[in-house]
Amino acid sequence: MSAPNKSYDPVEVEALKPEEIDRARDAALAAIAAAGDLEALREVKAAHAGDRSPLALANREIGALPPHAKADAGRRVGQARGAVSQALKKRQEELEAERDERVLVEEAVDVTLPYDRLPAGARHPLTTLSERIEDVFVAMGYEVAEGPEAEAEWYNFDALNIAPDHPARTMQDTFFVQGAEGSADGEAGVVLRTHTSPVQIRSLLTRDLPVYVICPGRVYRTDELDATHTPVFSQVELLAVDEGLTMADLRGTIDHMVRALFGEGLGTRMRPSYFPFTEPSAEVDMVCFVCRGASVGDSGRPCRTCSSEGWIELGGCGMVNPRVLTACGVDPERYSGFAFGFGIERMLMFRHNVEDMRDMVEGDVRFTRPFGMEI
Ligand code: PHE
Repeated sequence: MSAPNKSYDPVEVEALKPEEIDRARDAALAAIAAAGDLEALREVKAAHAGDRSPLALANREIGALPPHAKADAGRRVGQARGAVSQALKKRQEELEAERDERVLVEEAVDVTLPYDRLPAGARHPLTTLSERIEDVFVAMGYEVAEGPEAEAEWYNFDALNIAPDHPARTMQDTFFVQGAEGSADGEAGVVLRTHTSPVQIRSLLTRDLPVYVICPGRVYRTDELDATHTPVFSQVELLAVDEGLTMADLRGTIDHMVRALFGEGLGTRMRPSYFPFTEPSAEVDMVCFVCRGASVGDSGRPCRTCSSEGWIELGGCGMVNPRVLTACGVDPERYSGFAFGFGIERMLMFRHNVEDMRDMVEGDVRFTRPFGMEI
């Protein structure tokens, strides 16, 4: 029997001695068990299962063994490496589970806590300005009156002495909801009210005299939406019917409103005009809120608000036409009245420097937010 070939006996290769392999495996398993977190485990893995780990180095020695020794050495190293990688995998799972658990606890969100970062709302400035105007008149004893936006043609036109052939009735200016003017079927026409003046009629027909009402509301005309027009806009109507009212009362009432809304020192003027439901009628202007008239004739200081004219138009007004009083059953010999109808968008435009009407109707919160929650 020939002596064993010592130089090829795996037992003789230091790294492949069974005790060495067991020692390397046990050291690896102990380090794995001791790894307290995933970072530590990563280091343990590099040291005990990486390319330069004792078991990897031992594995490399196998290739140099004679064939009969390879199987045995391979099995022992393979088993050791298998045990290490299994232990690594198990510890990895444990540590991941621990971490997940910890994250769940540490990063828990109490969804029942009150949330205080809801964006603050804003009221539309048209609403707040309307309410301010109401307040000015309510303080003087006026009542707030309302009427429907889809209005009978009779209230919107006939009762206001607007003749059947008045151009405002044509499809050009008026949205007809039902039965256009002059329709043969005799059906009562319904329109989207083109002004708040029909509320004058409704107030006179339903209230006891004297009547003092203020009525802000939405009105409609067939205009294209652009920087200075909108098919839906807002007016504020005023009607006072009492004994002995004169144009001087109307003038004083408008002056008071301008003072209350824009401050002291802004005069008003009236220019003769025509409305079928008032006689005499006028257009009212107030001194420009922005330049206070200083831009007139001063080309060095142009004013965009009043186009350097010094005046801004508020709207129409006048003494209630006796024909309107009669149509509502009021005796024009005993009673007289005055009325006005002003555009609220226009007031908002020059009061707050809003340059484009579209901003007011598009409902973009970026427009309303700067006005805040003003009540
Ligand atoms: N209703 C008129 C308009 O819309 C305004 C107005 C109201 C004029 C009351 C006189 C009196 O233009």
